[in-house]
Parts: sequence; structure tokens; C-alpha cells
Amino acid sequence: MKILGIETSCDETSAAVVMGDGQSFEVQGNIVSSQIKIHAKYGGVVPEVAARKHLEAILPVLWAVLGEKGQKQIDVVAVASGPGLITSLLVGNEVARILSYLSKKPLARINHIEAHIYANWLSPIREIRNPKSEIRNKYPISNIQFPALCLVVSGGHTELILMRGHGKYKVVGETRDDAAGECFDKTAKILGLGYPGGPAIAAEAARFMACLPVGRVHGLPAGRQGSWLMDKLLPRPMMDSPDFDFSFSGLKTAVLYMVRDLLKKNKMEEIRPAMAREIQEAIVDVLIAKTLRAAKKYNVKTVMLAGGVSANKRLRERFVEMMRRELPNTRYQMPDTKYCTDNAAMIAAAGYFHAIKKDFTPWQKLKVDPNWEL
Ligand code: KG4
Ligand code: ZN
Repeated sequence: MKILGIETSCDETSAAVVMGDGQSFEVQGNIVSSQIKIHAKYGGVVPEVAARKHLEAILPVLWAVLGEKGQKQIDVVAVASGPGLITSLLVGNEVARILSYLSKKPLARINHIEAHIYANWLSPIREIRNPKSEIRNKYPISNIQFPALCLVVSGGHTELILMRGHGKYKVVGETRDDAAGECFDKTAKILGLGYPGGPAIAAEAARFMACLPVGRVHGLPAGRQGSWLMDKLLPRPMMDSPDFDFSFSGLKTAVLYMVRDLLKKNKMEEIRPAMAREIQEAIVDVLIAKTLRAAKKYNVKTVMLAGGVSANKRLRERFVEMMRRELPNTRYQMPDTKYCTDNAAMIAAAGYFHAIKKDFTPWQKLKVDPNWEL
């Protein structure tokens, strides 16, 4: 079965063709047209601009993935109908509706968060990975065993989702205020870094780490270096609370006050790499601790990451480390980094599991839902 995926929830216009044969997935094309550069000058996504840019990009992106004469035949159209920005979602959904009507192919209405989770089905499982036998872009469907737990960390969501089977979700923990990605983005702004903040903070933190062997921390005053390295300077909000919820807005405020204080005696360039590293550590510490606790409580067979923040190298390292040390008999999985941030291949992968259950929406009834909860 060949699925066309369409994604326009936020600021990426994407179309993909994914082949699922019951055994494995093959990504035959995945085009992502990003608007990041356009929104970067405003410091965040401007919804009206995003919708206009989706309109400009959607047909070229579709042509690129399908062939200009629609050479690539498809069996199902899958589209992200929410959550997201309503005006952005409308572009992808109108196009999907028309394609379904014209081609007489069924339409699968996909939740964007669900699709982030399904990015895990487009990646080789780590535990049984054998680089020699791995076929590029072709991944066995049965790698992930249920019950599974997924930490979804994106710009708008931070959730721990228990999955008892395909389409069976229970949110066991979520953020009470800001999402982890939002925390990266907002604290990056405080440090004078660009949008999106996650990759910018990660790059600064890497600069800090690269300096360690030399013993100098980007000009930080001597004597302070030790405390920068040894102490946890920022809070780890709710890390030890017995539930699986998160809270990141206090961390953002703590960063604001700490930076203000440090700037009295230092320049921003001097404190930025160390601050970035500490912000990243604080966020990752909390995410890892909560994921581990939930994985143990629900006794899951697989633990996964998903969403834009799961592209973070440090989070991925710590996740692997934690799984190997604490849960050596549990499978774990992360999406390939190219499928962490928004893309249509993940929409198509989720669409496959809707299609095999014949869970379709008639084109006349397709509706977007900006606040769609899983
Ligand atoms: O999943 P996504 O592409 O869009 C939403 O559905 O929200 O996630 C975007 C978020 C942004 O907040 C961005 O800063 C964050 O993912 N992000 C990262 C990294 N790459 C993207 N955060 C930390 N480290 C990264 N390498
Ligand atoms: Zn997303």
C-alpha cells in the first residue's frame, strides 16, 4: 500500500510517499519545505505568514514527491488535521480533500502528535540494529512491541503517552505550562540566540563541552568555572514529584533572573555557552527522570522518543545511557533525526495503520481541529 502523507500544521510544508507492505516501511520520497528562515526574523512563527507560505509551497512540494504528472500512483491520502495553527492546517487539508475527490482514493485523518510517535516506525530499532544487514529506508514494522511508552517533546507538546496497541493511547503525564521545545525557544531568546531555540542552545552547549578539556570556559571569570561545571545551578522542576507531569515555565524564569544577575559582571558572550549547557542539562534531566519512572511503573516493552526536541543529541545520548543502565531488557527506539521535526513521512506511516483498519474520513467530512487531543 502506497500512502501519500501531507503535513502543514505549523511552519513546514511537507509531502511524502511511504510504501507499507505489511512487513516493512519504505520511504520513497519525503520533501520538507521549511519556513524557518522567514519566521526567524520575527523570533517565532507568524501564523498568517505561515499560511501564505504553505499556499505557495504546497503544489511544488507535491509535484516534487509525486512527479509533475502524478506519475507516482498512490492508494491512500493521509493528512495532519490537528493540532496546529488553523490557517496552516487548512492548506494541507483542502489539498488532501481535492486529491481524494479527484483520485477517488480514501482519506485518512491523522493527529499530528500520533504521527510524531509513528516516526519511530521509520527508523531501525537500536537494540537489534545490525548496520551490515540494514536496508536503507526500509524498516520492519514489528520492531516495536506493546505496551510502549513514548515521550513526545515538541514545540507545543510535552507528553508521556502509553500505547497499548496501534491507535490505543493514554496520556499518563503532560506539561502543566510550557512545552520542552517552548522552554528551549524562550530561554534561547533570553540568551540572544535565534529561532528555533532548540538547535541554537544545543550548538552553544556543544561549544561549551568542546572547551572542557582545555579547562577554559569561554572567558568565564576564573574561580567561577568550577561551580559552573559542578553545580546544578538551575532548578529541575517537578523532577522528583510522584506523578508524570512536567512544568517548564519556572525554569524559564530562573534563567531570566540568573542571566540578569550574571550580566552585572560578565558579557553575554562569556556566559552564553555555559548557560546553554546548563539549560539543556536541566531540561534533559527532567525528561529522562520522568520517562524512566513511567516506564518502570507501566512495565512497558518498548520506550520511544518523538517530536522536534528528540533531535537533541544530548537527550538522545542520555536516553540510550538510561535505557542500557536502568532497563537493559526493554527495547528502545528513537526516530531518525530527519523524522524528529515536522515531516510528512510520519503522517504517511500513521496513515498506514489507519488504512489497514479502514479508518477513513469521506472528503466531504474532513475537518481541521487546531486543539485536537490524542
Ligand atoms: O515537532 P516540531 O518540529 O514542531 C512541533 O510540532 O512543535 O518541534 C519543534 C521544536 C522547537 O521548539 C525546536 O526548538 C525544537 O523542536 N528542536 C530542538 C532541536 N531541534 C528542534 N530542541 C532541542 N534540540 C534540538 N536539536
Ligand atoms: Zn510537530
